[in-house]
Amino acid sequence: MHDTSPLIALADLISSGVRTLDATYSQQGVPFPSLDGPYSPGPLDTDATVTAATQLIIAAAHQLIATVQQPVMTLLNYAPATCMTSAMGLVTDVHVPDALKDNPEGLHVDQIGAKVDIDPKKLARVLRYLATRHVFKEVAPDVFANNRVSSALMKSQPLEQLKLDKLRQYDGASAAALVGHMTDEGLRSNGYFVEFVRDSPKGVDAPFNLAFNTKASIWEWFEEPGNEWRGRRFATAMTGNYNPRVFMEGYDWNSLERGSVVVDVGGGIGTTVLNLAQAYPHVKYIVQDLEKVVGEPAQKYWQEQAPELVSNGIVTLQGHSFLEPQPVKGATVYFLRLILHDWRDSKCLEILQHLRAAAAPSSKLIVFDMLMPYACPDPAGPSPTPFPLLANLGIAAGGFATALDLQMMSSFTGQERTLSQFSALGDATGWKLESVKPGPLAAMIFYPV
Ligand SMILES: C[S@@+](CC[C@H](N)C(=O)[O-])C[C@H]1O[C@@H](n2cnc3c(N)ncnc32)[C@H](O)[C@@H]1O
Repeated sequence: MHDTSPLIALADLISSGVRTLDATYSQQGVPFPSLDGPYSPGPLDTDATVTAATQLIIAAAHQLIATVQQPVMTLLNYAPATCMTSAMGLVTDVHVPDALKDNPEGLHVDQIGAKVDIDPKKLARVLRYLATRHVFKEVAPDVFANNRVSSALMKSQPLEQLKLDKLRQYDGASAAALVGHMTDEGLRSNGYFVEFVRDSPKGVDAPFNLAFNTKASIWEWFEEPGNEWRGRRFATAMTGNYNPRVFMEGYDWNSLERGSVVVDVGGGIGTTVLNLAQAYPHVKYIVQDLEKVVGEPAQKYWQEQAPELVSNGIVTLQGHSFLEPQPVKGATVYFLRLILHDWRDSKCLEILQHLRAAAAPSSKLIVFDMLMPYACPDPAGPSPTPFPLLANLGIAAGGFATALDLQMMSSFTGQERTLSQFSALGDATGWKLESVKPGPLAAMIFYPV
């Protein structure tokens, strides 16, 4: 039993969280970022006190809305949520945030429409929908400007260049690339979600196959002629959406002896390894991925970022499918970052078996993946969150994991897993779970048995 009503408890959580934020920013002499200003990373973005307070505020605010809002209104807000996906997809695809880049005072929708080649009347409706949800702002009737949220969707090149070079339009813009992927392949796949889950159509691996009328996996499909830009967009999406701390601090990399070999299996263009190799250059790194990924996109990335790490042999880019036997035997560390969540259990077992067959007795396997949190407390323990919040903090923490889980079902045949599900995959392939470091991406360390 609790003395306070849920309504008052939620309001108190919001109030104390806001005071914590205010005090922390004041102590540092930094103003709290305005929703109206442009986005740029701030010194307190990853501060632990700020992160914890922010999560409580978001969890409590969402729960407060669900509590006070008439249930039918809640349903009617959620039901057309694909309008958000479509609207975000449009503005990302035609580069609206980029068109507004140098106009903090806003542009009339006729001017924006002319810049991005879109009918201004339709565009005004889309931008007003988004501005009502705090993405862009409507500064005067039909005059729109970027705000902190929409400016985070900007790409890295001038508008004219973006229009000219479809293949490279997302290069260097990981947030826009992830939004682009989710609102394009993700949205279309989700159109077949109900049919897939309800009817379990024979021979169909994912709603993606119904949406794009293909038997290919999304990885094979990315490689088909005409889809190269989408594959490249996906590779870019993987480059920057997690703070490097989650893997830098997930393992004691400093403890590795000189000349140890670390293999990033399915490492994309090598973003994770770039951070590691710059911090721990006494180790040799091999980034493995499909040929198309470790080919031109990865070469370009390393040329721009740190060509010396490749030329002096600290980093090697290697084309390899993790569904085939692992060519690097006895590596000190094999790691998989955001790989297992793309695949169903049977394929995860194949991937892990290949690594186990290549491992030396002293090798370690690190799996960086999100842990699926239940929305209810663990019956065996106390609730990890203050009354009356959900055990996974609702949208604040469980929101992304549960949404990504459904995206994995829609487009990838994969899923987000609980810790015991990861542990069971290890047990079935000769890898014993040794330790777990929780975080936005958990670091699960396995040893061979
Ligand atoms: C979700 S991304 C993660 C990339 C990277 N580990 C990271 O965290 O940024 C999945 C990666 O798996 C790669 N991939 C898919 N199928 C593969 C296969 N059969 N062999 C090797 N890599 C594969 C994709 O190209 C992609 O780079």
